[in-house]
Amino acid sequence: MKVSVGIDIGGTNTVWGLIDEHGTVHVEGQIGTKDFDHPTDFVQAIATILKGALKEHQDFELIGIGIGAPNGNYFNGTIEHAPNLVWKGVVPLKKLFQQHFQLPIWVTNDANAAAIGEMLFGVAKKMDNFVVVTLGTGLGSGFVVNGELMYGHDAFAGELGHTIIERNGRSCGCSRKGCLETYASATGIVRTAKERLNNYTGTSLLSQQAQLSSKSIADCAEQNDALALEIFDYTGHQLGFALANTVAISSPQAIVLFGGLANAGALILNPTKHYMEQYMLNLFKGKVELLISSVPEHHAAILGAGALVWKNVYGALG
Ligand code: BGC
Ligand code: NA
Ligand code: ZN
Repeated sequence: MKVSVGIDIGGTNTVWGLIDEHGTVHVEGQIGTKDFDHPTDFVQAIATILKGALKEHQDFELIGIGIGAPNGNYFNGTIEHAPNLVWKGVVPLKKLFQQHFQLPIWVTNDANAAAIGEMLFGVAKKMDNFVVVTLGTGLGSGFVVNGELMYGHDAFAGELGHTIIERNGRSCGCSRKGCLETYASATGIVRTAKERLNNYTGTSLLSQQAQLSSKSIADCAEQNDALALEIFDYTGHQLGFALANTVAISSPQAIVLFGGLANAGALILNPTKHYMEQYMLNLFKGKVELLISSVPEHHAAILGAGALVWKNVYGALG
């Protein structure tokens, strides 16, 4: 069976899968991105893992590798100045992979990969205009306009996470202040929780958590913890505000939330939807769907990355 490799490099974890052209993930695994100070070592480690997996499955024929990465550049096969990776500057990712695999290799932005995954296998299957917003370590977005992924002149279209929503707001890894991702992301919500807890005089389940994460804040909110619910409301407020502006830019049919913080489901969806509607231009009100990724097992990003190979090798998608 012919398979492609789909890799989703995240600020915290990297997930990979061996994927067939129908979007079935046959083998998958993950490694910690932060365990590697240098991209060369990271690529070496993942190449060893992939070669091992292929050896165990001799019936698989690898035809190419697709990679979604923060600040990934589809035109150049590079990662450029990623605020949430320890690898600074310009990383020649495609070249590094080529040292291990003599196969077609494609790199794109991680949120773009998730958008391709949703378009082919998820909630956006029949949509020509939608935006996928990934809420992980950072906030990324992939814009599909008129049925095509929007790349822009330098391949960096859709850097929604670094649109400034608060002048002189929280400091961001991109070296500026007030970026959306410092509020609305799996790490942004933790920053909010820490800030709030410092000034909180009431009792909250949050203060009993061994570690604050988007998951543990969601667990507290599920138990109706007032502070945790307020934190989700604030996060949804910041995100909803930004999404109302996003709608004005590309008139999407839907916005799809994906990634760590999106796993909180209704807890993040409801306040975001509420504020998005409140801030949206009248002519859009009630017309733009806000959805959570429907691709099983959170596979949208690796499926989309893997699909880059099918598209570029065969000119057709899955
Ligand atoms: C990066 C984006 C990326 C997002 C999610 C942001 O900090 O600038 O390119 O898509 O994080 O990883
Ligand atoms: Na993007
Ligand atoms: Zn920023």
